[in-house]
Amino acid sequence: MTMRDLKPILVFDSGIGGLTVLRELRVLFPERQFIYVADDVGFPYGNWEEGALKAHVLALFTRLLAHHTPELCVIACNTAFTLAGADLRAVFPHMRFVGTVPAIKPAAERTRSGLVSVLATPGTVRRAYTHDLIQSFATQCNVTLVGSQNLARMAEAYIRGEGIDEDAVRDEISGCFVSDGNKRTDIVVLACTHYPFLANLFRKLAPWPVDWLDPAEAIARRTRSLVEAEDGFEPRMGNDRAIFTSGAADFSTRRLMQGFGLSTE
Ligand code: DGL
Repeated sequence: MTMRDLKPILVFDSGIGGLTVLRELRVLFPERQFIYVADDVGFPYGNWEEGALKAHVLALFTRLLAHHTPELCVIACNTAFTLAGADLRAVFPHMRFVGTVPAIKPAAERTRSGLVSVLATPGTVRRAYTHDLIQSFATQCNVTLVGSQNLARMAEAYIRGEGIDEDAVRDEISGCFVSDGNKRTDIVVLACTHYPFLANLFRKLAPWPVDWLDPAEAIARRTRSLVEAEDGFEPRMGNDRAIFTSGAADFSTRRLMQGFGLSTE
């Protein structure tokens, strides 16, 4: 099979956070092309009403899958997948969807103090899916859900090279740090794909060191396990591209995409 015959992998997010997952996918899929889709029309998803967001995501995939035939879709967005993942699979039974959900299970397995925090959008914090994960895997832990209104936007600005207000970031993450007697939070789950872009800043601003759990590599491994490796492939030749639902990404966004090796034509 030649490079030309291999279908691309579609990676979806509300914005540019899914690039944190794309970079891990690329390591494991040297032979595949990627189509990165950012729903900048809908961004940010964090405060959308659930019914409206679900309908929006399903309508968007109806359009996307009418134009593209990917091998599979990676929903690199916790806010979308925890809400619409099951519906996407039901409405598009011939397409496979790999999702991103808060890494509560691995956090519960790793914590030593038993105090785990989940940093996410307000939508992800509200989701029944998130509460079910806690019930299923972390009842032995004390899980603090921290819904951030502003971090996804801040991460977008930061990664585009705009300034960032460190005090504002400190305020957004402060709820993650809990102490109880001589125990304190030792793991913070990064449950929004935008947040790993800010991880170094989080480390600097944290009142004490914690493990910031980024599930991107695990998502990439899961995706790899679903797609057979091709023998004799040629490494992809820089044909990855990004689609913005507005059709009008600004200059700094286009430059960022180029930096990630994604064309925006
Ligand atoms: N990157 C998205 C996530 O993983 C959310 C960003 C947003 O739209 O607020 O949840």
